[in-house]
Amino acid sequence: MSVLLSTRAQQIGDSPTLKINATARALKAAGKPVIHLGGGEPTYPAPQSAVDAIIQKANSRRIKYIPSSGTPELKQAILNYTATHYGHTFEPAHVLVSAGAKQALFNFLLAAVNPGDEVVFPAPFWVSYPEMVKLAGGTPVIVKPTQGLRVNADEIIKAVTPHTKAILINSPCNPAGHIFDEAFIQKIVQFAQEKQIFLVMDDIYHQLVYDGAKTPNPCAHAKDFSNLVLINGVSKLYGLTGLRIGWTVCGNKELIAAMGRMQAQSTSCNSDISEAAATAALNGPQNCVDDLRAVLEDNRNTLLAELAKIPHIHVEKPQGTFYSFVDFSYYNPDSNALAAYLLDKALVAVVPGKAFGAEGYLRVSFCADKQAIVEGVQRIAAALKDLKPQ
Ligand SMILES: Cc1ncc(COP(=O)(O)O)c(C=O)c1O
Repeated sequence: MSVLLSTRAQQIGDSPTLKINATARALKAAGKPVIHLGGGEPTYPAPQSAVDAIIQKANSRRIKYIPSSGTPELKQAILNYTATHYGHTFEPAHVLVSAGAKQALFNFLLAAVNPGDEVVFPAPFWVSYPEMVKLAGGTPVIVKPTQGLRVNADEIIKAVTPHTKAILINSPCNPAGHIFDEAFIQKIVQFAQEKQIFLVMDDIYHQLVYDGAKTPNPCAHAKDFSNLVLINGVSKLYGLTGLRIGWTVCGNKELIAAMGRMQAQSTSCNSDISEAAATAALNGPQNCVDDLRAVLEDNRNTLLAELAKIPHIHVEKPQGTFYSFVDFSYYNPDSNALAAYLLDKALVAVVPGKAFGAEGYLRVSFCADKQAIVEGVQRIAAALKDLKPQ
């Protein structure tokens, strides 16, 4: 007889994106020429400033526990970043540094959500949102757009009930790549303040936007900063996914302190080396972000040009992130089956739309290198030719 696992463990699914990563890695290790268009990290090398800080830290031979909520140096760098990009000055007590934006979000949910509380967010959504809300004991309330892939502010507002604790917005959005516009952000910020519910902005891609676009700034519309929760990190901005450094900034010291307690009791603190490297990346030259943006924009254009050669699919031009969300339903409305077919037949890894709350779509990343993008889409096109539409 095996020991029963918790109900919680039985209710929480795998991360489909991490699963795809693992499968693609395993196939590659077995010698298969897999092209990975399912990933969520730029191939771009780490900024030199971060690398130098890691070497310096290693040479100091002092790799120790650090303050649980983050070093004063990194908090200051985050405050400077926030002042530059959001035009608002916060204090160190308003910042919590975590092991990635993912842990930041999880800490927020643990600190804010009671059993029965609802967290409202639009579909398509980042795959982890529903599972994280459930893990925290809350109920995910998913708002599906009535038209296209983008909800409007009223659709979100309509989904709010007396049980709603937070609205969660990711802009630009993983997986669809759209930016929620100024009017949307203004309306949601004002609504959340009026209703006294949290508005969590998952801004992890806010600087990865193209064609000269800008992500609307929620702070520009806030009157009080106690319910506006800004989440960000170095993973996507500098391609430093392996550091595992993200953060929360919020004018509500009690919330930040409560999130800090969740973190202190679970991980004690972040990696000393990673915080030093993240500090250096934030304080160092920022032209690496411009370079990354330029590479990704070029990749996006290449991807769209290749996808345009495939008949019967539909894709909206992503305004940001490094994902395109493509309607492949003509070929197979079952996105899990189609993704499995493409991995098997074309050796191309993509992520099924079902995981993001939009069946019939596949998420195709453009953060791989250009050659892989071209060959990957060509292989998909060839494999689709052998498939009878369903
Ligand atoms: C929308 C969104 N939020 C948060 C994260 C987590 O980022 P981090 O690596 O900082 O944990 C991701 C990563 O893919 C993401 O796509």
